[in-house]
Amino acid sequence: MATLGVNIDHIATLRQARREDEPNPLEAARIVEKAGAHGITVHLREDRRHIQDADVIALRKKVKTRLNLEMAATEEMIRFAIKIKPDQATLVPEKRQELTTEGGLNLAAAPERFEKAIDRLQAKGIPVSLFIHPDPQMIKLSAWFGATFIEIHTGEYSRALREKGSAKKELAEVIEGARLAKEIGLRVHGGHGLTYQNVLPIAAIPEMEDLNIGHNIIARASMVGLEKAVKEMLALLKKAKRGGKK
Ligand code: PXP
Repeated sequence: MATLGVNIDHIATLRQARREDEPNPLEAARIVEKAGAHGITVHLREDRRHIQDADVIALRKKVKTRLNLEMAATEEMIRFAIKIKPDQATLVPEKRQELTTEGGLNLAAAPERFEKAIDRLQAKGIPVSLFIHPDPQMIKLSAWFGATFIEIHTGEYSRALREKGSAKKELAEVIEGARLAKEIGLRVHGGHGLTYQNVLPIAAIPEMEDLNIGHNIIARASMVGLEKAVKEMLALLKKAKRGGKK
C-alpha cells in the first residue's frame, strides 16, 4: 500500500486570509497524524503566502510521523532546511504568479545547481525528492544527481481525466516512469491533483511508495466538518437564549 502524506498548506491559506491564528497548521498536523496518515507535507514558498517559517519550526518539534518540506532549490531555502532538518526535502519549481506548483523541475536547465543542492541536503542527512514529470530524461538525471526519491507529477493525469474524461496516455506515462525510476535505483512518490475520484489507478502502481495529497483532502474536510461546526454554534446560541443555562 502506498503511504499518505497530507499537504496542509491550505490550512495556512485559510489562516493567512485573515492574518489571525486559526486554523492552526500544528493542530491540523496532530489531527492528520491521529487519523493515521504517514506524513505531513508543507511548502514554504518564497512569498510565504501560506506556510510561514514559524510553522515549519513548530511542526519540526511536533510531527511524529514524517515532515516533508517542499522548497525551491534556493540558497535561502537550503540553509533553512539544513537548520530545521525535515525528514525529507522535496525540491519543486516555484513561480511567483502561479496558484500552485504548476510544472515539474527542469533538471537539465541548471544541472549544477540541482546537483549541489541535493549534495548539500543529503550530506546533512536530509533525503531529497525531486518533483518531476514522468519524463525519462528527468528520471535519469534524478538518478545521476543522486537523489533518493522522485515525486512523479500526477497533475497531467488528473487534468486529462477532468477535461477529457480519460487519461490512458497520462496514466501509462506515470506507470512507465515509476518502473524506470525503480529500475535505476530511485524510490518513487507521486502527487498533485490527486482526488478521492482519481487516486486509485495511481495508488495501484506497484512502485508507488507514497502519495502527497493536499487540496482535495482539505476541501473535503471543510465540507464534512461544516455540519458539526454549525451545530456547535447553534447549540451556543440556544444556550444564550436560556440565559446561559444548560
Ligand atoms: N506534491 C507537490 C510537490 C506539490 O507541490 C503539491 C502542491 O503543493 C502537492 C503534491 C499536492 O497537490 P494537491 O494540493 O493538488 O493535492
